[in-house]
Amino acid sequence: MPVENRFLEGAFAPVTEEITAFDLPVTGQLPAGLSGRYLRNGPNPLGLDDPDYHWFLGSGMVHGVRLRGGKAEWYRNRWVRSKAVAAQHHETWPGGPVHENMDFAANTCIIGHAGRTLATVEAGPLPYELTYELDTIGPCDFGGTLPGGFAAHTKLDHATGELHAIAYFWAWDYVQHVVVDAGGKVTRTTNVPVPDGPMMHDFALTGRYVVLLDLPVTFSLNAVTAGKEVPYVWNPGHQARVGLLARDGSSPVRWVELEPCWVFHCLNAYDDDAGRVVLDLCQYSQSFDVSTLWHAHGPVTLDRWIIDPVAGKLTQQRLDDRGQEFPRVDERIISRPHRYGYSVQIGEVTRAITAAGDFDDDAFSNAILKHDLAQGTVQAHEFGRDATAGEAVFAPATADSVEDDGYVMAYIHNPDRGAADLVILAAQDFTAEPVARVHLPARIPLGFHGSWIPDQ
Ligand SMILES: [Fe+2]
Repeated sequence: MPVENRFLEGAFAPVTEEITAFDLPVTGQLPAGLSGRYLRNGPNPLGLDDPDYHWFLGSGMVHGVRLRGGKAEWYRNRWVRSKAVAAQHHETWPGGPVHENMDFAANTCIIGHAGRTLATVEAGPLPYELTYELDTIGPCDFGGTLPGGFAAHTKLDHATGELHAIAYFWAWDYVQHVVVDAGGKVTRTTNVPVPDGPMMHDFALTGRYVVLLDLPVTFSLNAVTAGKEVPYVWNPGHQARVGLLARDGSSPVRWVELEPCWVFHCLNAYDDDAGRVVLDLCQYSQSFDVSTLWHAHGPVTLDRWIIDPVAGKLTQQRLDDRGQEFPRVDERIISRPHRYGYSVQIGEVTRAITAAGDFDDDAFSNAILKHDLAQGTVQAHEFGRDATAGEAVFAPATADSVEDDGYVMAYIHNPDRGAADLVILAAQDFTAEPVARVHLPARIPLGFHGSWIPDQ
């Protein structure tokens, strides 16, 4: 019997089938140079019967479209086969390493690294490796080189090929910086002591530093006792601070305090000429109780933090005050100065998780935004009523094209068909009609993060 829970309804409602479709219909013209997969992960519970279902805990389902030669060759959606998901499908679990008995169908992001396709999640479990066609291979501890759990968000430094992550786990009195080399092996871990067990969903990377966000959402045994499935609560007693860890772990972390706030996602960070760190992110200015999720107070704004490690000071600028989330940058530029950023206004998410989800007109509550941070301008590509937008990622036109020379792609619900389109915008003609819309055979529930993974 279905129960009332906003994350099981409407644009969030899970799908019930795994689909494979070939030679998808396209409106417009797919860029012939795009060869690879657009993959996106998100929670997709197998049932509708949990009244306390938390959006962060649905079993991961990956939705993928493969593009090649100006054609959309396939669409596939697949649950990540954790032990529990395999059992529900009456399949044999492929087996593999498990950290601290925390096997979970990783639901938060999906990346390509060292030839692997990895579904990722935070707070203890390992990533799951998938095949090119999204079937589960099994849990991945990078060939036995990862000592603990991994992270949902990772940052690839394209100059070195190193993948960085920050792992956290409730039973640790530290968080762990993990470096995976271009060959897919963990080459270094650095433990950074932190009190109270903070949730560190994302972080940032510069040429010199790993930037840690130690904010007042922390693990709570009381929340566990109260039956909260995500026991991370707003903790006013936990000092908010940003930490600058030397990338090679060679010196103590430089901590800089700030007023309490919450951040899920960073756009990018870099070192400026004055030795400061410039960090762009989406900030929740007031308390956020992750255990209940919809008790946030908006708005969520795009802000710039400038951190001076010598003076020990952090200054803030508002870059854009419209409610937005899922900030992304041209991934090739991570840790170096960026000019452009892409983010998304999602009316359904804003309404579901914050108290500030009012839009003057719902027809304009779903848009992908392009920020030109040098000019201080924003362009919005609006999708109209009920055309729910998901996170948008940037795909370069060619491997060596300049920043912003390429495409911005996202799954957008098409209310006329009752199914999703993969919408591809020309980044440099952002408000024009999409260059292509790939018409997918099914709905895609609102989910989390993805990647454009070019074929090698
Ligand atoms: Fe995230």
